[in-house]
Amino acid sequence: MRGSVSARALRLASQLPSVCSLPDSGRRRLLPPGRAAPRTDRAGSSGPAAGHCGPSLITTPIFYVNATPHIGHLYSAVLADALYRARTLLGYEAKFATGTDEHGLKIQQAADAAAEEPLKFCSKVSLEFRTLFQQSLVSYTDYIRTTEERHKNAVQHFWCVLRDKGYLYQGSYEGWYSVPDETFLSESQVMERKDAYGNLIKVSIESGHKVEWTKEENYMFRLSEFRPMLLDWLKKNPHAIYPEKFQHIVVHWLQEELPDLSVSRQRSRLKWGIPVPEDSTQTIYVWLDALVNYLTVAGYPEDHNCWWSRVHHIVGKDILKFHAIYWPAFLMAAGLQLPKQICVHSHWTVNGQKMSKSLGNVIDPMERFSVYTADGFRYFLLRQGVPETDCDYYDDKVRKVLNAELADALGGLLNRCTGTRLNPDQIYSSFSNHCFPKSPYVGHSSRATAEDYKMIQLVEQLPLDVEHRFEKFQIYKALEAINFCIRLTNGFFHRHAPWKLDRTNAEDCCWLDTVLHVTLECLRVYGILLQPVVPALANKLLSRLAIGPQERDWRHLNFLAKYHNNICLFEGRKLGPDTGLLFNRLERTDKTQSKAQDNWKMMKIQHTLK
Ligand code: MSP
Repeated sequence: MRGSVSARALRLASQLPSVCSLPDSGRRRLLPPGRAAPRTDRAGSSGPAAGHCGPSLITTPIFYVNATPHIGHLYSAVLADALYRARTLLGYEAKFATGTDEHGLKIQQAADAAAEEPLKFCSKVSLEFRTLFQQSLVSYTDYIRTTEERHKNAVQHFWCVLRDKGYLYQGSYEGWYSVPDETFLSESQVMERKDAYGNLIKVSIESGHKVEWTKEENYMFRLSEFRPMLLDWLKKNPHAIYPEKFQHIVVHWLQEELPDLSVSRQRSRLKWGIPVPEDSTQTIYVWLDALVNYLTVAGYPEDHNCWWSRVHHIVGKDILKFHAIYWPAFLMAAGLQLPKQICVHSHWTVNGQKMSKSLGNVIDPMERFSVYTADGFRYFLLRQGVPETDCDYYDDKVRKVLNAELADALGGLLNRCTGTRLNPDQIYSSFSNHCFPKSPYVGHSSRATAEDYKMIQLVEQLPLDVEHRFEKFQIYKALEAINFCIRLTNGFFHRHAPWKLDRTNAEDCCWLDTVLHVTLECLRVYGILLQPVVPALANKLLSRLAIGPQERDWRHLNFLAKYHNNICLFEGRKLGPDTGLLFNRLERTDKTQSKAQDNWKMMKIQHTLK
C-alpha cells in the first residue's frame, strides 16, 4: 500500500507547481521506520500506526537578550513551530524547545549600558521573547533560559565529561575576539576598515563586527582532532545539514585547517557566565554554554536518551559554524549522538537593506500583528521565506500576498459555499455519485468535467506532497502547493456557477449540493493542512465547517469519501457558526504602516495605564 501510494504520489506530484523529486534518504524523514505513512487511500482511517521509533526534539536557537525581538528571530521560531505542529499532526511524539541565551560579554555590556543588574535585565528581555512567542502562537513545550539552575548543572556536567575524556587542556590564547558575535577569529578572518570617525579598525570579514585583540590563559578544546570525523559524518549523512547548499559550505570550511578552540574566558574579564568547575578564575565560553541548552531541555545529565535520539535544530545561516562544526565536535567528544538534522535558513532584509538598529529599519513583529494578525504574519514569513536565499520584507508585499491568498482565494471560497444564499440550510451538503461518478466515461449524463477530475486527483495527492515538503524544510513549497489547489477549487466553483442553478429542479439541486460538498471537502483538507502555519485561522475555518477538534489531524485527511463509495462523516452536519470573514482584506501599505504604528502606540498606552 505504502509503496503504491508513494509511486502515485510522485507521479502526480509532477503536476503540482515546481515539485522536484526527493532525495531518497530524506524522503521519509518525518516518518520514522515502523511508522506507517498516513494513508491517502479511500478506506477512511489512516495515520500514525503501530510502529514507533522514539520521539523527536525540535529546537530554535536560543535568542540573545541584548536586544528586543525582531522578524528575523520570529522567522527562526515560526519555522520550528510549523515543523513541530506538522509532526504532531502526523501523529509523532515531539518536544519543541526555545528560549534565551543570557550569558556572555555582550549581555554583560548591554546590562551595564542599561544600568541594570544582569539577571534583572535578562528576565525583562526574556519575557519579551516569551510574550512574542505566545502572541504569535509559537507552541513551544519548553522555554529554557541559560541562567536557570538546571542548565548550569548540565553545562558543568558536560564540561567535566569533556575534561575527563581528555579533550580540554590549559593553554594560552592570543587572537581576535568579536563581542557581538561572541567568537574568536584568526588573522585571516579579519580585515581593516575605517570607522565612522575615519579611524582604522579591524572587523570580522564574515559579520563586519569590530574585533579586539585578546591575550589570555584559558582552556582549549581539541577541536582540530575532529576534522576527519566531522567530514566523515557529513559524507555518511548527506542531508545532515539542510538545504544542501549549507552542507557544501560546511564541507568547504572543513577542507581548511581547524584550530583548537578556546572554551573559557578569564573570570576577571567575563563574570556573567557559568564558572569552570573547580577553577573559579575561568568562565565557560558562552557558545559552549549556549549549545548545551539543547541537552538541558532533553533532560541531560539525567535520562535524556528518549529526547536525544532524534534532534532537529533550526538555525539561521549566521550561526551555522557553531551548530555544524563546534556542536557536533563537542557531542562526539562527549560520546553523545549527533543531531539528525540541522535545518538552516537565510536572512530577512528590509526594503533591500540589512536590518539594523542604526538604520532604524528593524521590523517589530508585534507592531505588525495589529494589522496583519499573528496568523497573517506567520503565513507571510513562511510563504515568502525561502531557506536557501535571503528574502526581502516590505509591507506592500505582505498586503498583496495576504489579500490574494488568505482573504480572496481561501476566505472567498469559504464565504461562497457557506453563505446563506447558496447554502440556506447551513449544512455540509450531500454528494451524489450519480452527478459526479467515479469514472467519467461510463455513460452518465454527468456535469463533471475533465478539469474537475484532475482537481480531485491533485487535492487527493496534496497531503503527501505537503508532508514531503515539510520533511524537506520547504514550507514555502508546501504553501505554494496548497495555494495552487485552492485556486483550482475556485476555478471549479466558478466553472459550475452554482448560483445559476435552480433549486426547484431535482437534477440541478443534486448537482448544486454536490458542487458545494466537493468545495467543502477541499476546504476541509486545506484547513487541516494549513494548521501548522496558521493555527488560529485554520481553527476558524474548520470550526465553520463543523470539523471537531478530534477530526483535524492527518488521519482525517481522507478526501471525498463519498466519491470513493465510502461513508462521509461530515455529510448532513449542521455547519458551525458564522463568526465573520476568515481574513479581512488589507488597505494599502502607507495606510497599513501608519495604522500598525497607531494601533501599537494605543496598545502601549493602554498597557501603561493598566
Ligand atoms: N544566541 C545565539 C544562538 C545560540 S543557539 C545555541 C544567537 N542568537 S540571535 O538572537 O542573534 O539569533 C537567533 C536567531 O535569529 C538565529 O537563527 C538568527 O539567524 C536569526 N536571525 C537574526 N537576524 C536575522 C534576520 N535578519 N533574518 C532571519 N533570521 C535572522 O545567534
